[in-house]
Amino acid sequence: MVEGVIKGRRYTPRVMEGNQDHSAWMRGLGGRFVVFDGPDGSGKSTQFHRFATAVRSAGVVVEETREPGGTSIGERIRDILLDPIHEEMGLRCEMMLYMASRAQLVEQKIRPSLDRGELVLADRYVSSTLAYQGAAGGLPRDEIMAVAKAACRDAWPDLVVIFDVDERTAAGRLNPLLDRMEQKGAEFHAKVRAGYLDQARADPDGYVVVDASADPDTVFQSMLDRVRERLG
Ligand code: TYD
Repeated sequence: MVEGVIKGRRYTPRVMEGNQDHSAWMRGLGGRFVVFDGPDGSGKSTQFHRFATAVRSAGVVVEETREPGGTSIGERIRDILLDPIHEEMGLRCEMMLYMASRAQLVEQKIRPSLDRGELVLADRYVSSTLAYQGAAGGLPRDEIMAVAKAACRDAWPDLVVIFDVDERTAAGRLNPLLDRMEQKGAEFHAKVRAGYLDQARADPDGYVVVDASADPDTVFQSMLDRVRERLG
């Protein structure tokens, strides 16, 4: 049981959302690996920060990662990947750069955190590569998975939470200064979305889909319910 001490008195942290106390199940998240993923403009990063804050309030140590990036090597790979000047980048190069960033992240952050019994909360992971370079870009799933196994080894998520949103709502949420991936257009992004939904359908134990078209509070509540059902 995680406890704090205020003015000499012991207390157990409580995380209230709506009328529910979420602290007990959240304390069981130590040592688990959860990925938040979804199309550009799905609002996943807002939910990600809110969830990380809530779980920390329950007394769990949380390692947050973001992709591409999250390490100093990964941030340099990110600059190459997202710079609109690199429009000639081939799909295989692109996929392998995402994976190279991820391999470094696994080695430097994810694996050590899991070994210490922390919750690893990842903003994007292999599911992004399957959606963007696979379903939308056209690379075969088997190729991506072969590289993913080499890059991630046994660092495989306990749960992937997909924030699903229609393209029109997603486009309205994006900063008008689009990066190289965001510039790829409506048809590409429709395939990205379908790619996420297909992954979730093919692996119902490993994925949950949250309707992210509503307001942030509603999305947060339904995400908490889904995650609790699976990991609580
Ligand atoms: P970023 O600005 O981090 O977007 P977000 O806040 O939506 O995560 O940009 C990451 C971009 O890289 C995003 O458009 C998705 C894309 N991406 C891939 O195409 N493949 C991948 O494997 C990953 C991790 C990201």
